[in-house]
Amino acid sequence: MSIDETEFRNVMGNFATGCTVVTFPDTPPHGMTANAFSSVSLDPPLCLVCVDHDTTSYELLSNGEMESFAVNILERSQQDLAEYFANMTELDEDPFEDRPTTSGVEGAPVFTDSLAYADCTLHAAHPAGDHTIYVGYAEDAEILDEDGDPLTFFRGGWGTTTSE
Ligand SMILES: Cc1cc2nc3c(=O)[nH]c(=O)nc-3n(C[C@H](O)[C@H](O)[C@H](O)COP(=O)(O)O)c2cc1C
Repeated sequence: MSIDETEFRNVMGNFATGCTVVTFPDTPPHGMTANAFSSVSLDPPLCLVCVDHDTTSYELLSNGEMESFAVNILERSQQDLAEYFANMTELDEDPFEDRPTTSGVEGAPVFTDSLAYADCTLHAAHPAGDHTIYVGYAEDAEILDEDGDPLTFFRGGWGTTTSE
């Protein structure tokens, strides 16, 4: 039995996730919305993101230009950022200019309104179908907002949760 691509996407969409923007220290910087993100290991501190081969981010990672990236874990108020970095909408201003950012230790922009971030060097790359699994070694990681609620993605729609 072979499952149709759309059907598989719809089935997988029942797994509720948070949402991240992965940023790269390019000139100018680059970002991509990603929910295929996971922590992997505590010792050493590893996390992963699955990157579609049909993206600029994959181009940057696969041609060896990028050896680091930062994963920004989004707060519910950052839906517009998630849509922008998924190429779904435009914003009036470039968020790398307009939004509060700092530079991670490896040079990728960190959106300081996020819940948390992990600043990673590239640890490993595992091709997997039309995506590649990029494993990052967290050189730095920090909680930026202890009280914020997450931006979530479930069945193709944005949402949030609260711990109360
Ligand atoms: C909620 C959401 C989650 C996404 N997760 C991923 C992901 O984990 N990996 C991926 O390659 N693309 C993912 N995408 C699609 C990319 O964000 C989209 O293809 C983007 O335009 C790629 O940017 P780039 O080509 O400028 O690098 C996601 C999109 C949305 C809306």
